[in-house]
Amino acid sequence: MPICNRGNFPSTRYQGSKNKIIKWIDYCTKDLKFNSVIDAFGGTGCVGYMFKNRRKQVFYNDILKFNYYIGLALIENSSTLLDVNDIDSILTKHKNIDYPDFVTRNFQDIYFTNDENKWLDFVITNIKLIDNKYK
Ligand SMILES: C[S@@+](CC[C@H](N)C(=O)[O-])C[C@H]1O[C@@H](n2cnc3c(N)ncnc32)[C@H](O)[C@@H]1O
Repeated sequence: MPICNRGNFPSTRYQGSKNKIIKWIDYCTKDLKFNSVIDAFGGTGCVGYMFKNRRKQVFYNDILKFNYYIGLALIENSSTLLDVNDIDSILTKHKNIDYPDFVTRNFQDIYFTNDENKWLDFVITNIKLIDNKYK
């Protein structure tokens, strides 16, 4: 059974992502003999993920915290998936939680609409409540 599936790799609009040329990188490295690889500026994780798929030991690194979570979820993790209950819980505004309004207050009229900012405030809070480092 494959440990990961390239077809499911999440697509992003990440500046500098190598996802568009990942098959070429795969092809260019296919005859090299090595067991481990460092993805030093890992970003989306697509390069490390491709090598993980080839059963290489991958060391993923990135200076940004959100990319650290990408590294945990896509590179270090090989078995944990979000399930339907997790998704339901993330997308539900729970009555017993006093949700912060950090995004709503600080990002008004900058990136997203007010409703989207409110959505981000409660979804981010719900995600933080999931007690599993791979989710
Ligand atoms: C072009 S992007 C990602 C490239 C990656 N191979 C991909 O396909 O998504 C470069 C990444 O380097 C990270 N980066 C920049 N300076 C860094 C540093 N000093 N140490 C670690 N990561 C750094 C950035 O956060 C960014 O995610």
